[in-house]
Amino acid sequence: MTVTAILSALAEEQQGFVDLLEDARCVRRAGREFWIGRLHGQDVVLALSRYGKVAASTTATTLIESFGVDRIVFTGVAGGIGAGVKVGDVVVADGYVQHDMDASPLFPRFEVPLYGQARFDCHPELTSNLLVAAQGFIAQSYAQASAVSDESGVVVHRGLIASGDLFVGSAEKASDLQQALLGAGHVPLAVEMEGAAVAQVCHDYGLPFAAVRTISDRADDQAHVDFMQFVQEVASRYAHGIIRELLELLPK
Ligand code: ADE
Repeated sequence: MTVTAILSALAEEQQGFVDLLEDARCVRRAGREFWIGRLHGQDVVLALSRYGKVAASTTATTLIESFGVDRIVFTGVAGGIGAGVKVGDVVVADGYVQHDMDASPLFPRFEVPLYGQARFDCHPELTSNLLVAAQGFIAQSYAQASAVSDESGVVVHRGLIASGDLFVGSAEKASDLQQALLGAGHVPLAVEMEGAAVAQVCHDYGLPFAAVRTISDRADDQAHVDFMQFVQEVASRYAHGIIRELLELLPK
């Protein structure tokens, strides 16, 4: 059976998945814990990316080389920088760039040297399934909540995410990054610190990759406060709901 890696950016998310894992077995590699088992009828390996591009690359490479996973699905939170991308929304990535990649003047800004590209696309079919899963989860959550309140307003976006080894915590920095990316023809919806690295590793190995991020903050001066609160209160619930929908959708 196809083995799906569920890669979490946050320990809180991973713990929830581990709690639900059947026939669970933990293996230590590269100073990390990998959890093997079955989740919602699928064979899975659960792993924590840790923070930043290098740590995430180690985790992704170990998932592929040591555990033979067939595809990687990444969950986590991100700072919204696109117009209309607000806290509580969900972004399903259709591609990634590294906003801190700059080997100019040798290569154009953002281009990854020797790849001839800045953008790494996510797997179209897996991404479409993830989008359907995210929309399904949000619709269900708000159908339940609407008994109490009419407010939903949560939007599931699909688009580009930019990653870099930087927590974007000022409106000025967010605007600088956005302008630079737009100037190079990239329209980012959100920023985080790992996804582009995993997209590049999956590109190297020819492995399907998809990612979903819940927006925890607007990458502005308030970002660190919003981030902590959001991680504790909302992010894991979203990640679990969306991954449950996805695993039930994928062929067994
Ligand atoms: N992850 C969540 N919010 C973020 C931000 N503002 N910058 C980088 N990574 C994030």
